[in-house]
Parts: sequence; C-alpha cells; structure tokens
Amino acid sequence: MNKFPQNFLWGAATSAHQVEGQNIYNDWWQAEQGHLLKEASNSACRHYELYAQDFSIAQQLNHNCHRFSIEWSRIEPQEGNFQVLEIEHYRKIIADLRSKGLEPVVTLHHFTNPVWFSQKGGWTKFKLQKYFLRFVDRIVRELADQVQFWITINEPLVYSSHSYFLGVWPPQERSLFKTVKVTLNLAGAHTKAYQIIHQIYRQKNLVKPMVSIAANLQAFEICQPTAKNKLAAYLRNRLYNFYFIEKLLRKKTLDYIGVNYYSRNLVDVQSWRIKDLLAQTCPYNHHPLPKNSLGWDIYPEGLFKLLLAMKKYKLAVFITENGICTQDDKLRWDYIYQHLQQLHRVISAGVEVLGYIYWSLIDNFEWDKGFIPRFGLVQIDYQNQQRTVRESAKKLAEVFKSGEI
Ligand code: GAL
Repeated sequence: MNKFPQNFLWGAATSAHQVEGQNIYNDWWQAEQGHLLKEASNSACRHYELYAQDFSIAQQLNHNCHRFSIEWSRIEPQEGNFQVLEIEHYRKIIADLRSKGLEPVVTLHHFTNPVWFSQKGGWTKFKLQKYFLRFVDRIVRELADQVQFWITINEPLVYSSHSYFLGVWPPQERSLFKTVKVTLNLAGAHTKAYQIIHQIYRQKNLVKPMVSIAANLQAFEICQPTAKNKLAAYLRNRLYNFYFIEKLLRKKTLDYIGVNYYSRNLVDVQSWRIKDLLAQTCPYNHHPLPKNSLGWDIYPEGLFKLLLAMKKYKLAVFITENGICTQDDKLRWDYIYQHLQQLHRVISAGVEVLGYIYWSLIDNFEWDKGFIPRFGLVQIDYQNQQRTVRESAKKLAEVFKSGEI
C-alpha cells in the first residue's frame, strides 16, 4: 500500500458560474443571453441555494477540503456597489464547509468578470486592475479569519488564450497583442493581490495565508523525434507551463504552486513557422491513448513528469484540479486511480504535495461546451436537480479515508 502524507488535503472543486446558476451580472451570462455561446448556464446546478446539501455529500465522501470561487459580479454587480448580503452568502458557505470539516480553498477569479468591468475593457487595460484589487481587498478583509488557502486567478493563460486568442470565450476576440497584454496584466494583478492578502493577514495578526494561482499544465510529448518537434515541445513547455509560474516565483509571490492537470498534447510540427511550433498537434492519433468524452488524451504519467520538473522550485505543489469528463464511470475511476498512483510516485521522489482536488464535485456547466461533458463525482439530473453519487466517488472516498492507494 502506498501511503500519502499526514494532513494531506483531499477534496473536489467547483467554480461559481459553472454551478451556482443565475449569475446575471457577469460577462458570460451576457454572452450566453446574446446567443454567442452554444448553451446558457441558466440555473446550472442551483448550487447557490443547494450548497449545504452538496457539502454534506462531500463530507460523507470523506473530503477534508473544498475549492470554490467567489463570484465578483455578485459582490459588485455595478461599479463600486458592494453587496453586503452576497458577501454574507460566501461567509455562510465557508462556515458550512468548516462545520463539516472541509478546509476552504478560495478562488478569487475563475474566468468570469462583472459586465461593467468587461465593458470598460477588462483585463486588456492595465489601469483597470485596480478594480479587481479593490474587490480582493474587500473580500479578504471580510473572510481572512476563516480562510487559509487563496487562489487569486484560475488558469491565467487559459483565460487569456480562450478569450483573446482563440476567440471562443467572452469577449471572443482574436488578437495576439491583446492576449499578451491580458496575460501580463493578470500576472501583475496576481502580484499585487498577493501583497494585499499578506498585508491584511499581518494587520489582523493572523497566521500567514497560503496564496497562489491555479496553473494549467499540459504534458507536451513529441510524436516523432524530429528537430522541429523537439524544439516545439521545449518552447511550449517553457511558454505554456513554466513562464508564468517562474515570473511569479521571481517576484516571490507564490506560497505554493496550484496545479491543474488534465491531459497530454502530442506535438507534431510540419514547418518551422512559429504558429506551427506553438500549436500544431498530431492529427493522426499516433501513440493512441484512452480519451475523455471531449477527446483529450488520458496520460497520468504526465502528472509525474511535470511535478518532477518542478522539484527545483523547492516549493510545495497542490493539485487544485484533476479530472475527467465521461459517461463511463469505470473509466473515471481508472483515471483517478492512475493519477493518484503517479502523484504518490512523485511524492516518493521528493516533491512536496499538499493535497489533491478532483474536478469536479458535481457535474456542471463546462463553459463553451455547455452541460454535456460530465466531470462530476456526483451526477446532476438537470430536469429535477437531483444529485446521485457515482461509484467512482465512493471508491475515491475509501482512498480519502485511509490516505493510501
Ligand atoms: C479547467 C477549468 C475548470 C473546468 C475544467 C474542465 O480549465 O479551471 O473551470 O472547466 O478545466 O475543463
């Protein structure tokens, strides 16, 4: 049996817009209502009302932590108009988690923005960062005494590339210039948010918080060992996996490294064009692997390789997301089990890992893909909002209980 460290954090994640429902003041809702996306989130999982029920399920499944996000557009639906009752709502959420023995891991930005913020230009404008920082300051002041783990920004590069380069997420733009600008502004916003959070804890004489981002990492593997492929894999690894993290490490603004890991990217480049070097993948299903329902390769070893490569940072990592969308629950369990094996392997190789958070606690609104992908440990019937615990969740509950695989 492979034992995980003592005090390991075990849990699952959600994000506000994907589960709460009726987030009517954010840019996603606006785009959904304008029929710019495949599906609208509408009432989603009604988690805004049903959170206590969902956390009871997590508790029964032996989770000891839970990751969720605070919806900025609920807190500040119009510029400067802070909603005390909405802050109270998240305070209740945290109290409920704590009463059930679940350590809260709180995300401050998970892809959505208040409409007023995006109408001003959102993350493309350096000077607008101050609005996010004001929100961070307000929330952290209110909740500091109840929260130890913060994630300022979820997957900054996924946000900037999907919203400003690929044009698939609001505001659906395609501009390399804006993508770079947004990425840099997010890095700057994180750094300042980090300082604000730490300062509040010092002022309040609280134990130092643990602040990070959740970085999306992909395993870049080459299809054929050509010079082009090797260079491409190297560049992608540097640019997409480690550039952002290293930038923040240099600024000393990470207390741990939040890692979201899902899949492999099979690099196969036909020309030296920069566009191909940075994006082209093998279209032929060479080196086939089992896939999730969105067609992403299942590649547990990638988790091991990436975490091992991060050992040199001498900072603890925290798996803030890892999961699979599938209708085949046996495959879900295989996915989880194999990733936990690799996680244990890398811990044995000397990498400090604080915990493992599965994406997601419940089925939810998968952004531009809508409600079809099923990532949940708990199945949602969207007709009647009924929750059904999947077998994989029960098996995972055994691991969470014993702390071993
Ligand atoms: C992550 C994201 C989550 C979730 C997940 C599954 O990129 O943080 O919100 O959608 O992917 O695709």
